[in-house]
Amino acid sequence: MAAAQDTHQASQETELFAPPADFAAAAHVPSFEAYQELHRRSLEDPEGFWREITDGFTWFKPWTQLQEGKPPFVKWFVDGETNISVNCLDRHVEAGRGDRVAYYWEGEPGDTRVVTYADLLTDVQRFANALKAQGLESGDRVVLYMPMVPELPVAMLACARLGVVHSVVFGGFSADAIRDRVNDAGARMIITADGGWRRGRVIPLKGNVDAALADDACPSVEGVIVLKRCENDIGWVDGRDVWWGDAIAGQSEVCPPAQLPAEHPLYILYTSGTTGKPKGVVHAQAGYMVYTALTSKLIFDLRDDDIYWCTADIGWVTGHSYIVYGILANGISGVMYEGAPNHPAEDRFWEIVEKYRVTVFYTAPTAIRTFVRWGDHHPQGRDLSSLRLLGTVGEPINPDAWLWYHRVIGGGRCPIVDTWWQTETGGVLITPLPGATTLKPGSATLPFPGVEPAVVGEDGEPVPDGHRGLLIIKRAWPSMLRGIYQEGWGQPGHPGEYGDSERLIETYWEKFPGRYLTGDGAVRDADGYYWVIGRVDDTLSVAGHRIGTAEVESALVSHPSVAESAVVGAPDPITGEFISAFVTLRAEVDGSDELQAELIAHVGQVLGRFACPKQLRFTDALPKTRSGKIMRRLLRDIAAGREVVGDTTTLEDLSVLAALRGDEE
Ligand code: WTA
Repeated sequence: MAAAQDTHQASQETELFAPPADFAAAAHVPSFEAYQELHRRSLEDPEGFWREITDGFTWFKPWTQLQEGKPPFVKWFVDGETNISVNCLDRHVEAGRGDRVAYYWEGEPGDTRVVTYADLLTDVQRFANALKAQGLESGDRVVLYMPMVPELPVAMLACARLGVVHSVVFGGFSADAIRDRVNDAGARMIITADGGWRRGRVIPLKGNVDAALADDACPSVEGVIVLKRCENDIGWVDGRDVWWGDAIAGQSEVCPPAQLPAEHPLYILYTSGTTGKPKGVVHAQAGYMVYTALTSKLIFDLRDDDIYWCTADIGWVTGHSYIVYGILANGISGVMYEGAPNHPAEDRFWEIVEKYRVTVFYTAPTAIRTFVRWGDHHPQGRDLSSLRLLGTVGEPINPDAWLWYHRVIGGGRCPIVDTWWQTETGGVLITPLPGATTLKPGSATLPFPGVEPAVVGEDGEPVPDGHRGLLIIKRAWPSMLRGIYQEGWGQPGHPGEYGDSERLIETYWEKFPGRYLTGDGAVRDADGYYWVIGRVDDTLSVAGHRIGTAEVESALVSHPSVAESAVVGAPDPITGEFISAFVTLRAEVDGSDELQAELIAHVGQVLGRFACPKQLRFTDALPKTRSGKIMRRLLRDIAAGREVVGDTTTLEDLSVLAALRGDEE
């Protein structure tokens, strides 16, 4: 974890922010006592607790058994049958709420669309029929590589309706990254667009897909559906490529939902871990549906008249859970924005808040720190009085940024929910409830109902309050990852039936059997509040994007000039961390400024621009322990420009350290 975050605020004087009385009075969970009671009941009587919650959903067959199995293999709502698309769409339309807006969509160039729940249901059914006509069946995998347009949720929900498993790949990923994910998932189809707008430029999405599929590199892919968005020039492969418009032409607006077992996989989402190969995290229909819906409702305190806006990209888990599934399950109106926060000007977000009268706003600390830098005059020039609740996600928020967000964006009146969770957890696990929890800037505060965290030492025993340890979760929750995708998923008797269970166990369950290892370090304070400090493994959080150091390292060594590389994170005032790379070159190659730029660009090509190192140094050798492990702590100190501390006697070659320090001058 970054040493700049070594001092946590838990032990310092902290200003407290109690829920405003008028907010609490109208909230779903209106007091701290009500929260405590809810949490107590969720742990003592999980059957009763979840029964009450799930009664509000549409089931083809109600569940009778809450759970089966032991971590890591826990099934939820075991014998129930449902379909998440029905609960996100049909349920609201059948209740006479079809005219309600699902998405106010804002394209980056300023074009807009308003999509009601009835519209969305029609679009989803028609597109689901198009997918069927393309030959897709329940259990097949489809990769979605799309801009932030309404057709992305349409495609996701259409897959869900059929039991087809979607895997959304963030539009910032490169062709190589698409290829790896498509092949790992064995996807039969890719759904993409000609392009998407970002800072006034067209991101060539279809071009990247073509590059990924070139030379028959993805043999599982039979077809590509292409949405027309930017009207940019694109390549075309006859027999493989189909326009979205042609695919839906003539398709019926009615597509009966598949009646899916609760555990039917809903999606795969690839996320970074400690090896070079990203993990395909699998989530299941029912548990994910119930948990994202409940967290949405209670954490964002959703009411019928809310206009909710989460600024994440749907390519990450935040967008899956809190732009699409959890929010639609509540029948709430959301804003969806295609582009960059500074296009055409640095007040674009505040313009959107003003225009749509946004009431609940959810963003990342990196964005907040960027807004601080851009200046208060941007938000102050807009009417933000509609806001009543703010949220953050993705990385720790420093108290200064928290206080600015509270004062300048929230006008001092809006609670802030600092929500801690992960791709693997599916939904938020540690968070304030805005009408109940007294806030401490920088703390994600307390566990959501059903969640039992702890902070433990290497021996698995709880560390005393106020001390740093490893954040673990002591019992399963409904939206817990079901596994890491592997060919054969769900096919009884196949070696891949439960996915890559070896990797699943090794990553999350081996260290403390029966308890989920989050990979984050944390402190619990005397009030029981959790302060999440950051990753303790080799995963970086750069601008809220999770990037594995091993992924960047393998991208670098895939360049012909590179012999070896080590990648670490260093503290950055805006993005939280930045990527710093140490590279040793092959014997015949000399380091130069051009090569440095070329290697950085190479990472962009292999992974995507967001994963490019900001700093890259050449070194004769990497510092290693006697057992051959790269001394990452030393490299982190060097990258951060800190004095190098600690025991260096295990260094294989002290001159390496000296050379690296010299490099720093
Ligand atoms: C970090 C994003 C501190 C954490 C939803 C976690 C946070 C990783 C917070 C997961 C928060 C997320 N405070 N750290 N409120 N939220 N993180 O999978 O290190 O992209 O393990 O999921 O982000 O990143 P992921």
